[in-house]
Amino acid sequence: MSAKSIEIAGWADSDGNAPPVVCALRLVRKMRGGAQASMVETSGGFYVVKWKQNPQHRRVIINEFVAARLLRRLGIASPEFALVRAERRFLDDNPEVAISGRKGPVPVGVGLHFGSRVPVNPDKKAIFDFIPLALLSRVTNLADFLKVFVFDLWVDNNDGRQAIFFRAGSKDLSALMIDNGFAFGFDGTEWRMRDKTICKDRHLLSELYVSEQSARIFEATIPRIAATTAADLEAIRQSIPREWVEDDDEQLSHVFAELNRRSQRLPILLRQALEGLAERAQSAREVTPDKRCGPQPGIPRQGNFIQTRERISAVGLQRVRTRLAEEWSDGEIAAAGHQPRPFSRAG
Ligand SMILES: Nc1ncnc2c1ncn2[C@@H]1O[C@H](COP(=O)(O)OP(=O)(O)O)[C@@H](O)[C@H]1O
Ligand SMILES: [Mg+2]
Repeated sequence: MSAKSIEIAGWADSDGNAPPVVCALRLVRKMRGGAQASMVETSGGFYVVKWKQNPQHRRVIINEFVAARLLRRLGIASPEFALVRAERRFLDDNPEVAISGRKGPVPVGVGLHFGSRVPVNPDKKAIFDFIPLALLSRVTNLADFLKVFVFDLWVDNNDGRQAIFFRAGSKDLSALMIDNGFAFGFDGTEWRMRDKTICKDRHLLSELYVSEQSARIFEATIPRIAATTAADLEAIRQSIPREWVEDDDEQLSHVFAELNRRSQRLPILLRQALEGLAERAQSAREVTPDKRCGPQPGIPRQGNFIQTRERISAVGLQRVRTRLAEEWSDGEIAAAGHQPRPFSRAG
């Protein structure tokens, strides 16, 4: 099958690029994780594909698609994405893509699915779900974790933040934000966006949120998101492939109206989340006294973020550090090859 990249009407991103439709050619491997995604070679390169028939819900691929468009629009590091067409021949030639269901295999259907582009040639370069904390300083775009923290509050990501890491130089690593299947307050069945003081797993990166530049990046991200207009959101809603929406029009209208409303409430959402982090740090400190948890010297008391930052200081991450150190030593990363590991949980 020849490479093809079809433009969809009205589907130009803010960077002017229309997302492609690519054709699935060959299953490379099945990925870990609850959605039973597959890495697939397509007419446009390698993609990790979530199928419409995934065991979580059809709505998960709507969430992936909308979140991917928003993230890229906001310039938050995330994979390129495409609509991946599975044709009958691909499905017949690659029967292993079928979903394992409780009552046996569920076939993947002919049609469009969500593809998250693999950022490097997976045969040549390693991609990691997980890096030891010791290597965090080698990630060149740590600021994206701060930006996506605000994004996750906006979209009420109901899952822990997940990222992939790959080498961007001899020593440097790049991170891309992935797995937005439970964005928009998705609880596995319904979209229920709510305010939460703190979302799952965020404490793993607590040290980052209290870094010197965090307040500046948080403050810069809020107006960027708030500048997303109702019309911008509507254009994204209209671009969701019709065959994924089925009879969800009304629910999706609510989701998008709520997104619009929440974009104006981000300062409050962020303050609540930071306070939640601080409280959690405080209780961790009370349970495990640790000298490193004391206030960092030299941080002036000014403004909410700084105060909160001071209160959190170097959170009691000893438990996490120990766990990560057990899993991977610094030297092992080079030798590990492509062995996706969960960032903080299975998949
Ligand atoms: N764009 C991508 N490039 C490379 N690997 C990816 C990409 N997207 C996902 N993966 C890998 O596929 C796995 C499953 O994808 P994920 O979105 O986390 O699905 P699930 O909802 O099943 O957890 C991830 O843990 C990661 O290893
Ligand atoms: Mg995952």
